[in-house]
Parts: sequence; C-alpha cells; structure tokens
Amino acid sequence: METKVLLPTAENINTVGSALRNGELVGVPTETVYGLAANALDGEAVKSIFEAKGRPADNPLIVHISDISQIERFDLVSEIPENAKMLMKAFWPGPLTIIMKKGAVPDEVTAGLDTVAVRFPSHPVTARIITAADVPLAAPSANTSGKPSPTTARHVLHDMNGRIPYIVDGGACEVGVESTVITVAGETPCLLRPGGVTLEQLEGVIGHVDVADAVLHQLKEGQTAASPGMKYKHYAPSAHIVLIKADDKKYIEYVNERASSGTAALCYDEDCERLSVRTYPYGAKEDYAAQSNRIFDVLRRIDEDGVKTVYGRCPETGGLAMAVYNRLIRAAGFEVIELA
Ligand code: TXA
Ligand code: MG
Repeated sequence: METKVLLPTAENINTVGSALRNGELVGVPTETVYGLAANALDGEAVKSIFEAKGRPADNPLIVHISDISQIERFDLVSEIPENAKMLMKAFWPGPLTIIMKKGAVPDEVTAGLDTVAVRFPSHPVTARIITAADVPLAAPSANTSGKPSPTTARHVLHDMNGRIPYIVDGGACEVGVESTVITVAGETPCLLRPGGVTLEQLEGVIGHVDVADAVLHQLKEGQTAASPGMKYKHYAPSAHIVLIKADDKKYIEYVNERASSGTAALCYDEDCERLSVRTYPYGAKEDYAAQSNRIFDVLRRIDEDGVKTVYGRCPETGGLAMAVYNRLIRAAGFEVIELA
C-alpha cells in the first residue's frame, strides 16, 4: 500500500473523511501528538489499528469528537457525571481525555472495559477531519507500539509507511506529549496519565484528584495498572537511557567523566556548552512547555543517530513537567541515579 501525505485542503479533508467512514486508517494531527484514526463505531476498522501499530489488544483507545453534542448523538457514555461536565467546560477543546462509564461503543475500542475514554481535541484540522467523517474517531498515538509518540507527519510516515493509505500533515504538534487522562468513573477522580492539562489545573476546577501509582512510580510485580497503557515500558528508544537527578554542576561532572563516542546527554539547553559529549537539549531548565514540545522528537533523533548510552537530566515533577517526567522515566525503564 502506498501511503500518501496530504495537506489539509478542503478536498483532501473530504477524501480522508470518506476513507475513515469506510473503515480505513488515517494518520491525523492533533495539538498533542499525531493519532492513528479509525471510525470508532466500526469494530473491524478499530481492529486494524491494533494490527498497524502492533498494539496489545488489552490496551483501550480514546474516542475523539469535534463537538460535545456527539457524546449523546453517538451514545458514547451511559451518563456524564457533574464533575465531567465541569472539566469539559474548563478544558475542552484541549489536551484532556475524560474516562466515563461506557455507552454503545464497540468492545474493540474499550478492550472489553465498562468505561470509555473521550477527548475533544483543539487542533482545527482534527475538528475538520472528524466533522467530515461524521463519526467519532478512535485513535491511539500513531507510533509503532513501544516507540516515542509522533509529533510530526514525518514521524508518522517513518513508522506507518506502507501500512495506512493517508497521513494528513497539520504541522508540528504544539503540546508534544499525549493528553492528560483522568477517570471520573470511580468514587474519586483519578489522574491516570499527566499531559498538557496539569494536576493543579484539574484540582482548581473539581477539587482533589488522586494520582494513580503508575504515573510517577514503577508498578510492583503483580500490581495492576488503573490504565492498561501505563503498564507497558513505552516510549522506549533503542539507546540505554539513565536519568540523573542532580544539580547543574554534579550532572555535568558526572557525564563528562563518562564521555566516550557512544555516549550522549539528554540535557537542558543551558547545560550544552559545558558538556564534552554529544548533546540533545530538550528545552530550557524552567521552560516545561518547550520540554514537553520537544521531548519525543529528541528521543527519536537519539535512535536515528545510533547513540548507545544517554545520560538524561531528570525533569521536575510539578506542573507540566510531570508529563515530561512520566514519559522520560518510562523511556529510562525507571533507572534513576540520584547524586546528593
Ligand atoms: O493525546 C492523546 O491522547 C493522543 C492523541 C492521538 O489524541 N492519543 C493517545 O492515545 O495518546 P494512546 O492510545 O496512545 O493512549 C491512550 C491511553 C492509554 O494509556 C490507555 O490505556 C488509556 O489511555 N485508556 C484508554 N481508554 C481507557 C479506559 N477506558 N480506562 C483506562 N485507561 C484507558
Ligand atoms: Mg500511545
């Protein structure tokens, strides 16, 4: 199959809208990362997402909409709790996924769970595609399972070339990490994945939100993940990544002492000039938005360059940095060295 990369012209949006309605897969831009979309109402189409990505069948997908009224129109959930309504009002359209009790969504989407994840993206091209398809779209990130999520159409082409008919190029993603995932299906709302909407922002609207163990820590043997996706290593580059928790000086000394040809530093912008190994800066120290925007592209470049060992500067864990920390700690397989 030839994979065509299309610009979001009116004609092309109609082409991919029909393709989606007819059960085909399309790579679509969103403000977070690129998605691999299929008609969420068509179980067979959704199955082909799992094949194209090599995704484990027990990992459920997010259903994307372009208008809140579609939740009712397509009977996506059995009820919308009051706190979900408050979250929708505050953060939609935007990088927040809300898990609620499911309605008439095919089991292929929810991996058999009794809940469904719903998201209303803010990228104007995503909205035009969903509206043209006139069906909600099930879409995971458009990477091969286990690879960093794609933040450009080129990343999607790299992973999906020959496997899907179309990719729509909507430019580089602004947020750069996947949406925040919160469940309101249980007693207390619980953050399952940190993203562009922060824990602090969520709590500002609905009060206390629990944080699932898997967000910041490695699950113990036998412990079950509240969100199936969190149990996988994920975002794993081929290089061996070790995170170093230290101040500027200690980090730089530690890396420079270990300098060799296969070694590199995944560092803050400010660290570069003092490091004697190849550097992959992922943003300025306090610029969490830049870090989130760049992290996946940098992880992909580390792989392309065949780096063997990467010493990463451990990100902070508050605000938007929690999302960056959550992704990097997985890329590092939870290997952290703390220098006092
Ligand atoms: O920003 C995003 O969310 C992107 C773009 C394309 O919208 N999508 C995305 O999808 O990141 P994916 O499939 O890569 O991640 C979805 C996460 C997984 O960790 C999955 O386990 C979790 O959401 N999830 C989906 N439905 C769930 C459910 N019913 N209960 C618990 N976790 C769920
Ligand atoms: Mg993903």
